Amino acid sequence: MKIFADTADTQAIGHLSEAGLIDGVTTNPSLIAKSGRNVLDVAREICAMVDGPVSVEVASPDYDGMMKEAAVIADIAANICIKLPLTFDGLRACRALTHQGHKTNVTLCFSVAQALLAAKAGATFVSPFVGRLDDINLDGIELISQIRRVYDNYPELKTEILAASLRTRNHVARVAGIGADAATMPAALIEAMISHPLTDKGLEGFMKDWAATGQSIL
Ligand code: G3P
Repeated sequence: MKIFADTADTQAIGHLSEAGLIDGVTTNPSLIAKSGRNVLDVAREICAMVDGPVSVEVASPDYDGMMKEAAVIADIAANICIKLPLTFDGLRACRALTHQGHKTNVTLCFSVAQALLAAKAGATFVSPFVGRLDDINLDGIELISQIRRVYDNYPELKTEILAASLRTRNHVARVAGIGADAATMPAALIEAMISHPLTDKGLEGFMKDWAATGQSIL
């Protein structure tokens, strides 16, 4: 499963990317706002830092506006993935941009029916929001499972499931178990995935025993 950093924080992206821990980046208008930076500047910088897809979202609600914005966004770099909302106009723009050869990410997906239409529109990725469904006492993980089943029923649908709005290590483990193609999550969650109390405890023991030997590898 590909792991994407869901952030517009270039420092965090650089840190994770240097360690080879991420396969791409996703942003959204809220994350760009949080960065306090110009969307095109930050997108350009991120695209130069990672080889994989970098999702940047259009801001217009209508087809014509989306297509104009998409042309500007697509011009940034070859690894740009144009993010579009799961609306009538977003799906229409997705179809047109896919025909033009662009990578697309249809976002704000909350149902299997929506995911089916995103695939029909030729989306490269569909982003079902796990955490936001859990927030309203629905089952976000179950949605990933259902979309996987439906897509697998129809091999002609090539859209990849990009599990989004992930909040916990358990979310990540469960979407990987289901067979999500990719998962996007905050940088802090990727860092948290590294830690386990038994790893810390074990390492402390090894270091103590090693010091007692008086040896040096170098
Ligand atoms: O970028 C889309 C998604 O991952 C947002 O997550 O935590 O704002 O629900 P969240």
